[in-house]
Amino acid sequence: MQLRILVTAAAFAAALIGALPASAADTLRALAPSAGIRIGTAVNVEALNTDAAYARLLAREFNLVTPENAMKFSVVQPERGRFDFAQADALVEFAEANGMQVNGHVLVWHQQLPDWLTQGNFDSHELKAILREHIQTLVTRYRGRVASWDVGAEAVDENGRLRETFWSRGIGPDYLALAFRWAHEADPQAHLRYNDYGGEGDGAKSDGIYDLMAELRRKGTPIHGVGLQMHASLKDAPRASEVRINMKRLAALGLETHISEMDVMLTLPASRADLRAQAALYRDMLQACLAVPQCRSFSVWGATDRYSWIPDFFPGQGAALLFGEDGRAKPAYNSVRRALRAAKTGKR
Ligand code: G3I
Repeated sequence: MQLRILVTAAAFAAALIGALPASAADTLRALAPSAGIRIGTAVNVEALNTDAAYARLLAREFNLVTPENAMKFSVVQPERGRFDFAQADALVEFAEANGMQVNGHVLVWHQQLPDWLTQGNFDSHELKAILREHIQTLVTRYRGRVASWDVGAEAVDENGRLRETFWSRGIGPDYLALAFRWAHEADPQAHLRYNDYGGEGDGAKSDGIYDLMAELRRKGTPIHGVGLQMHASLKDAPRASEVRINMKRLAALGLETHISEMDVMLTLPASRADLRAQAALYRDMLQACLAVPQCRSFSVWGATDRYSWIPDFFPGQGAALLFGEDGRAKPAYNSVRRALRAAKTGKR
């Protein structure tokens, strides 16, 4: 067993060396600043703590990180009043050691909630107190160290209406506005975002998200940006032109936008043609972001296929990210790098 892990890690490291960009000036994080955006990734903290080659790849290519699971409710507060920041601390310290910005994820979401909470039969008054304490304990701990927070996620359903969730049932429709206020109280400098999937282009859900953002802004809620997740496949992806239009209308509300969780799942084993089509889709969505000044960052939901969430949730699908299981750069990495280089020379 020990020998197999060592052999795999050695193979991963060897492949990684083969796939290294020509120079440090040619990495995504070196090219992104003069293209006017941050380039980010979700981080699997368990892998960060055990896979040195993975950690090196993260630090080499990205200047923005989002904890894939380390700051979620069930991880941070597994028992009522007992907070566990081990994973979150590890991520923030890694980011600080490598000059990377941190986007905290996620303060109020209807998934990954601990049983003590969902089976606690708390009334709305108690639930408000619990959520407020959770948000303010987490945000206060990382005040000045976490630059932005995904405060709320996936609160709009496929028809564009407020999704019926544990929080909307327990607290009421204003749970989201309250969450933003509590986060802002805890860190007035932090950039606060709403984050969702399936509303990146046009359509009922996109309109529902737009209407919710407009209402929150109208009510003076301290919200500064929107994360467009962009979990795509070759058959299911918005048009880049629709994404640009959507980003511009959100900008007209005074909101910055971010591609926050991009991945493009492929049917396994991935064909060369599919890998080329995947590369084109990554390029198109990055260029959509680069075309809108208020789009401030482009993040992928994981650095390598080795730790992607896709195969567990979509059996038979995978190869969704910029680097392969072996750490080698894929055509998608090269298309993203070319698009950043082109933007760098002002040809946005
Ligand atoms: O940590 C436990 C481990 O102790 C246990 O042995 C194992 C087996 O049950 O589960 C592990 O927890 C898993 C966790 O990932 C960490 O690996 C959860 O079961 C699993 O559900 C969880 O999946 C995460 C998923 O959100 C939950 O819905 C994915 O990693 C994560 O990539 C995904 O990310 C979400 C974003 O937060 C929001 N937007 C959509 C995106 C994809 O669903």
